Amino acid sequence: MACKVFTIANQKGGVGKTTTAVNLAAALADQGVQTLLIDLDPQANATSGLGFEKEEGRSIYPALMEDGDATKMIIKTGRKRLSLLPSEVDLAAAEIELSQKENYLGQLAIAIQPIIDSNKYKAIIIDCPPALGMLSMNSLAAADYLLVALQCEYLALEGLGQILSVVDRLHEAGVNNRLEIGGIIMTMFDIRTKLSREVVDEVRENLPDQVFDTVVPRTVRISEAPSFGQTIFEYDKSNPGSMAYKNLGKELIKRFSLK
Ligand SMILES: Nc1ncnc2c1ncn2[C@@H]1O[C@H](COP(=O)(O)OP(=O)(O)OP(=O)(O)O)[C@@H](O)[C@H]1O
Ligand SMILES: [Mg+2]
Repeated sequence: MACKVFTIANQKGGVGKTTTAVNLAAALADQGVQTLLIDLDPQANATSGLGFEKEEGRSIYPALMEDGDATKMIIKTGRKRLSLLPSEVDLAAAEIELSQKENYLGQLAIAIQPIIDSNKYKAIIIDCPPALGMLSMNSLAAADYLLVALQCEYLALEGLGQILSVVDRLHEAGVNNRLEIGGIIMTMFDIRTKLSREVVDEVRENLPDQVFDTVVPRTVRISEAPSFGQTIFEYDKSNPGSMAYKNLGKELIKRFSLK
């Protein structure tokens, strides 16, 4: 089974990366795609968002340090077709320790290869921390596609250039020639404001083929779900946010032939 690796990155904090990683992974799994969510953020929000406690020693960290097998860290989430490679605080040390490695950008690619080779997953989604540090850069070096979560807010386009230019830099440096911009996911769209509409229009104008049709609305239920360890589908199936993430999953399946 060919496996496609998506990384959800944006150096900016609080833009909806984790919310999108969790709910998009759940949407793919719901729609029949064997999916693994990798929590690459020491904050471990994706881990707790799926209802798991941080567990000492259980993360991608040992495998990043070539001191363990990443496949052994994977948890079945109890949801059909959805697995999780959780995070915990140890991962914070990886930012510094990776920079001391000779192959400082390629460690994650090496760490996840056995997972890819296991042939168990059709999609791997990586949730990145809010910085273009070693962890995020490793995810870009390991991924097939970059998905950018972009909040519908003033100056959304600022900063987008920075993350998108990393793709070119990684090509030029020969670090990851496979990496493509998989698309831009507009998050926290506020139907009541003209600003949200204008931001989406502006991003679409600038990057016409990149923005997904589905725009994720801002809803209170989406922000409540993680505190119950639930996806939006579990917490409130009829919420507009459920519909949006379901549709986003459909778009992804179609755009990347995940089925
Ligand atoms: N569509 C939405 N509607 C309402 N609240 C949302 C939505 N998406 C995200 N949020 C809330 O916004 C906050 C930031 O979201 P999230 O944690 O997904 O962002 P992030 O980019 O992963 O943040 P960080 O950079 O810290 O990792 C959270 O409190 C989350 O619940
Ligand atoms: Mg996050």
